[in-house]
Amino acid sequence: MKKDEIEDVKKELDKKEPQEIIKYALSNYKKIAIAFSGAEDVALIDLATKVDKDVKVFTLDTGRLNPETYDFIDRVRDSYSLNLETYSPDTEAVQKLVNAKGLFSFYQDGHKECCGIRKVEPLKRALSKLDAWITGQRKDSNPSTRNALPAIQRDPGRRELIKFNPMANWTLNQIWGYIMENRVPHNKLHDMGYVSIGCAPCTRPILPGQHEREGRWWWESGDKRECGLHLTEYK
Ligand code: ADX
Ligand code: SF4
Repeated sequence: MKKDEIEDVKKELDKKEPQEIIKYALSNYKKIAIAFSGAEDVALIDLATKVDKDVKVFTLDTGRLNPETYDFIDRVRDSYSLNLETYSPDTEAVQKLVNAKGLFSFYQDGHKECCGIRKVEPLKRALSKLDAWITGQRKDSNPSTRNALPAIQRDPGRRELIKFNPMANWTLNQIWGYIMENRVPHNKLHDMGYVSIGCAPCTRPILPGQHEREGRWWWESGDKRECGLHLTEYK
């Protein structure tokens, strides 16, 4: 799609509800998949399987997820009889990092190196087969980096790919309203005070009034913390 065309479609889709954005995405792209890890992604899956029950879904198994998250992934897979692809990190790259720096180097060196190996490189492999992907990002999940998130964009990091963010305008409360109303499966960690969930050593529950992002990589300063899956230049 050319730049002008994307701008026109974006103007329309930015005003639409997630269901309609998903419908547009699935009917215009065949090599397309949903990136699944969190609560909002199951709402996406719930909506998308109503349009195409065989919709492709992938998840990045970093090897450091909580047992509750593994349980959740399998429950979602079973509930929707999903066509789910799991991507694991490159063994040699993980071994090299762990042998050189141990299992918790991110607490000293920052999370970028480990996320690069366990998330970003596997994502690159997952996306190499696709023309478009669908994420569960919301504007309110990280106002410092996602406040201009569009419903459709040329992926800032991979210009050949189209990226859909159907939940961009939904709030965390709307996501949970949908989950409860439609009895969508959720990660049991949410019942223990976790809101935004990533890897076990890098995620913790939040206190009332804290922003969901404060439960991720809390030992690092600044509010622009991102793992590198989503580049945030919205052009
Ligand atoms: S992150 O960049 O901080 O990790 P976040 O947890 O907000 O991202 O998730 C935003 C979206 O990125 C999710 O809705 C999902 O589409 C995608 N995503 C994040 N982590 C994964 C993962 N492990 N596997 C697949 N998709 C993921
Ligand atoms: Fe590594 Fe933590 Fe990033 Fe997971 S979130 S890939 S454990 S640094």
